[in-house]
Amino acid sequence: MRLLVLTIILTTFVQATIPAEVPDAKGEELYREFCSKCHGSNLEGGNAPSLVDGIWMYGLDKIRNITFGIAQQGMPAFGDALSKDQIEAISRFIDESAHSLGAARPPIPDTLYTYDYDILVQKWVEGLEIPWAIAFVDSTTTLITERTGRLRIVQYGVLSPKAVENTPAVIAQSQGGLMDVAIDPDHGQNGWVYLAYSHALVDTSQTRPPAMTRIARGRIREGKWHDHEVIYDAPHDTYQSTRHHYGSRIVFDSSGNLYFSVGDRGRSGEAQDLSKPNGKIHRILPDGNIPTDNPFTADVEALTTIFSYGHRNPQGLAVHPVTGEVWSAEHGPMGGDEINIVRRGDNYGWPKITYGRNYNGTLVSQHERLPGMVQPVLFWRPSIAVCAVEFYQGRSFGKWENRLLVSALAYEEVRLLAIENNRVIHQEVILKNAGRVRDVTNGPDGAIYVVLNSPGTVLRLTPIVEDDGF
Ligand code: HEC
Repeated sequence: MRLLVLTIILTTFVQATIPAEVPDAKGEELYREFCSKCHGSNLEGGNAPSLVDGIWMYGLDKIRNITFGIAQQGMPAFGDALSKDQIEAISRFIDESAHSLGAARPPIPDTLYTYDYDILVQKWVEGLEIPWAIAFVDSTTTLITERTGRLRIVQYGVLSPKAVENTPAVIAQSQGGLMDVAIDPDHGQNGWVYLAYSHALVDTSQTRPPAMTRIARGRIREGKWHDHEVIYDAPHDTYQSTRHHYGSRIVFDSSGNLYFSVGDRGRSGEAQDLSKPNGKIHRILPDGNIPTDNPFTADVEALTTIFSYGHRNPQGLAVHPVTGEVWSAEHGPMGGDEINIVRRGDNYGWPKITYGRNYNGTLVSQHERLPGMVQPVLFWRPSIAVCAVEFYQGRSFGKWENRLLVSALAYEEVRLLAIENNRVIHQEVILKNAGRVRDVTNGPDGAIYVVLNSPGTVLRLTPIVEDDGF
């Protein structure tokens, strides 16, 4: 009897002390058998990188990387050899080992070293809540959206503690909320500011009201949103109860047309349906009217705002400073992120063609190309989770004129793409592992501004030695 009591006490004690401290036993065995020959017997790295240094080159989703592998880099896929439970056990073992070795996220560096410049990194604004986009009104005033629904003002580099009042209500669930902010090209004359956000229909009979991307404009006076005008309201019967793939980036071309993206809203087939707004890039005039030369104005079935179709979730749009064409960056499925040049009336193929697969490894389509569907300028396999893009314009980084700045969420990167004749001829990662990057742009001062998701921070990048004019 006494022995039994003692055993119970002992087992209870042992069970209570195991979890947080001792790495997952099953995971450890599996790690030794399947992973240690490349990643090192203590996870410290060897033929393959360390798994305990806090750096995740391929994003934070270890389970996905272990299951599907990173074929191009020699990381095998274990989805067939190991069960889901086994992969989860290994992943827990990695987390626990990293924790017990005291590995933490590396601090944001003060200096970045690139081919062309040594760069000073400053934390320009801190304390934001899931910032989504940044736009410069002029050399003193900047607007930043927070996905939760607030529009923030930075004046002379100082974040105003109060958000702009009276901005439109948004449905901030999952990927949705207040998304892009854009400044009218004639803002000095007309004062217009544009917002893209997730709008839900008020319907008390439904616990999950349908929602869609909406575009509105207004003017900011004395910290308040005035003159609110909805300039794009999707047909209400096309609203969806899903909460992802809203697209939501806004740009203007040099003729003053406004382009915005709407993701497929999780209904991939509708990206091919011209009577549906999702999975499209739209083009309107800044007051919401429709340009007479939009491609589908003569088609009675089609929505006349559509400019191009067959897109999955484009969260990046930028106008090429020389050609004037609109470039988009879109989240693909696993291994199918794309950069496209968006042309009038063209079909970009989603989901009929793609370089990606579903996240469970199954095929989206067996086609990577089909006649009548446009190929991307570039695709990323594995996906980097490409978000905002912007062509660099400014004096500070003179050698980077017209190069494309690219932000990546999962990979936590800012990349710089050199482009010649609409071909990407070089890619360089200029910032890595500072956090998920939601937006990247250059300010009127020529500095590069990087919007990090969490903790909500804007970094300001400037060259340590300015260009000398040669
Ligand atoms: C044949 C060698 C090899 C084996 C075996 C192997 N890996 Fe890898 N692994 C790699 C390589 C190579 C990379 C990518 C290296 C690079 O790009 O620098 C990688 C990358 C990774 C990454 C992504 C790291 C990051 O920075 O994002 C994870 C996670 C990972 N491996 C986990 C595992 C686990 C868990 C196992 C065992 C189930 C395993 N690997 C087995 C070679 C291997």
